[in-house]
Amino acid sequence: MNDTPLILGFETSCDETAVAVVRGGTVLSNVAATQVDEHARFGGVVPEVAARAHVEAIRSLAHRALRDAGVHPMDLDAVAATKGPGLAGALMVGFSYGKALAWALDVPFIGVDHMEGHLFAPRFENPDYEPPAVVLLASGGHSEIVHLRGWGDYEVLGATIDDAAGEAFDKLARFLGLGYPGGPAIDRESEGGDPTVVAFPRALPDRPIDLSFSGLKTAVTTYVRFHHGAGDLPPMADLTAAIQEAIVDALVTKTMNAVTAVRAPAVAGGGGVLANRRLRQRLADECAAAGVALYLPSPALCTDNGAMIAAAAVFRLARGEVASLDAEIDSSMRLGA
Ligand code: KG4
Ligand code: ZN
Repeated sequence: MNDTPLILGFETSCDETAVAVVRGGTVLSNVAATQVDEHARFGGVVPEVAARAHVEAIRSLAHRALRDAGVHPMDLDAVAATKGPGLAGALMVGFSYGKALAWALDVPFIGVDHMEGHLFAPRFENPDYEPPAVVLLASGGHSEIVHLRGWGDYEVLGATIDDAAGEAFDKLARFLGLGYPGGPAIDRESEGGDPTVVAFPRALPDRPIDLSFSGLKTAVTTYVRFHHGAGDLPPMADLTAAIQEAIVDALVTKTMNAVTAVRAPAVAGGGGVLANRRLRQRLADECAAAGVALYLPSPALCTDNGAMIAAAAVFRLARGEVASLDAEIDSSMRLGA
């Protein structure tokens, strides 16, 4: 085995079946089948539907990832899959498939922490990205601010005490009738809107690195019901811009508080919410003003993908951290625990 191993990575923790082939720090292929349409009519992810869709998609996606990369299965040095956190039935599909394939090919199998995958994702496009850094991880299931002290050495500095940021986007978009997933819908809808028409509350001012979004949900629903009744609801572009600004402002403020607290020279990000254009702009502005580097993956590597799982696996494999074939998923796995 060399120091640029060829790894096939599976990610099936939620509603994307994603597979990638990575050689060392280079993505050779990265394919995904989204289940958004199957969950949209329910307004959110239905675990049973997700697991079944993973089963249906995984085999052909694995073939496609190998074909796109021009790689024969026998060339692989290892197979990796997300171990947790996520939906148990969904995780089980990628994890079991990955283990079976590793066994058949007689190569090591690596079970990867999904959040560690997000921590590694910025590396593909930012070769300078190295610890120490403060990393903002914000997705549909998670919102946390992590001190990346070294690879494999993570401290969660703060987290949401209720809803995740992506969940706030999703719930509010659903309330406004904008469909699922809500983040991209609000991102689009807010274009050209004036975020100052309403000042929605920013939560937990006394807890510098923690987040909370349930109060925002209450504030928005109360505001919309009242002004809808009064017939003076602002245009959707302004309303969504104000909602987006409240979420983005909270994420950016708390991230920069963390930078100050641990004197980090760099900020990085991962998770679907980091695809948000306003968030990316605000982080760029604040990091420039603070004189710290910013490392963001392109939007396709912010959302869940197989490449990030393979990237974390490269690191774990180098440390000899290979899973046995009777290893199990851990749906409530916690970073740094
Ligand atoms: O990381 P991810 O793909 O899956 C999870 O692990 O949850 O993140 C999905 C979340 C969803 O809540 C979605 O609404 C949000 O990321 N999201 C966005 C954007 N694109 C995806 N939120 C805000 N703006 C976006 N452009
Ligand atoms: Zn994720």
